[in-house]
Amino acid sequence: MKYLIINGSAHNGNTYKLQELAKQELAELDARAEFQEIRLRDCSLPFCLGCSLCFRKGHSYCPHNTIIQPIIDGIEQSDGVIFSFPTYNMQLPALMKNLVDHFCFIQHRPRYFTKLALILTTTGAVGAKNAAEYLAGAARSWGFNRCYLLPVAAVSWNDYKPTNQHRKQTNKIAKQFYEALAGKKLRSPTLGTLIPFNLFRGMSYAYKPGTEYAYQDGVFWEETGLIHRAYAPQIPLPIHKQLFGNLFFLLGKKMSKSMIVTYKK
Ligand SMILES: Cc1cc2nc3c(=O)[nH]c(=O)nc-3n(C[C@H](O)[C@H](O)[C@H](O)COP(=O)(O)O)c2cc1C
Repeated sequence: MKYLIINGSAHNGNTYKLQELAKQELAELDARAEFQEIRLRDCSLPFCLGCSLCFRKGHSYCPHNTIIQPIIDGIEQSDGVIFSFPTYNMQLPALMKNLVDHFCFIQHRPRYFTKLALILTTTGAVGAKNAAEYLAGAARSWGFNRCYLLPVAAVSWNDYKPTNQHRKQTNKIAKQFYEALAGKKLRSPTLGTLIPFNLFRGMSYAYKPGTEYAYQDGVFWEETGLIHRAYAPQIPLPIHKQLFGNLFFLLGKKMSKSMIVTYKK
């Protein structure tokens, strides 16, 4: 299995020890494990400028696309993604949040439907669950099928030694992550995932090429064929969820008529 580690830490500290432990567990479970690591601190990714070119014209127009594109491709080429970052002020550290900001357009144009994530973070005492859940929410909006969370209280400044309980927890989560990857069984999306997916799908009608405020969403949903589906075709979707999704699709389509997002031409 190919694992991509996206490391959002500015140094090799407590989180790195947890990351290495998770890696070790995965390597024991998976004889064919291949790890690739992207250290955001080495990427020199400037802050998102808020130019909205990714939304409007497409992410290839992002002024930082030479840095962003390899990360997008890295996720595409992996089976599982490990997001690893320390918890700062009960949230993501700026390095990881900066990546999430650059990835916001993917919420409008989701793609990683067959990908699974392991999200690990260490905190001093509190906030790790909060930070991990925030990133899981973002990953789900990008299409990730499942997220496994490993939030750990290290109770240390840079001298974390995994306790037996943390080792057991890491072993358990790594096993769940690996087995889900190996089983290749993709889960049907939750109702909470279907709502934004179908709202963006419906709203895209108002932004097709030739419309007053045409933008990339109007191309993407049509081009990928997702415009015709309540969720990605690779993912099982029972009939009641199809109906639920299509209801929000119609709502998005209706809403977009009276709520056009404008931009300066
Ligand atoms: C800027 C900063 C903010 C932090 N915020 C929190 C926090 O909100 N809650 C907490 O319990 N610990 C907090 N800590 C402690 C770290 O989360 C903890 O030491 C973590 O294990 C650091 O991981 P690292 O060594 O990989 O950087 C903070 C530490 C720093 C440097």
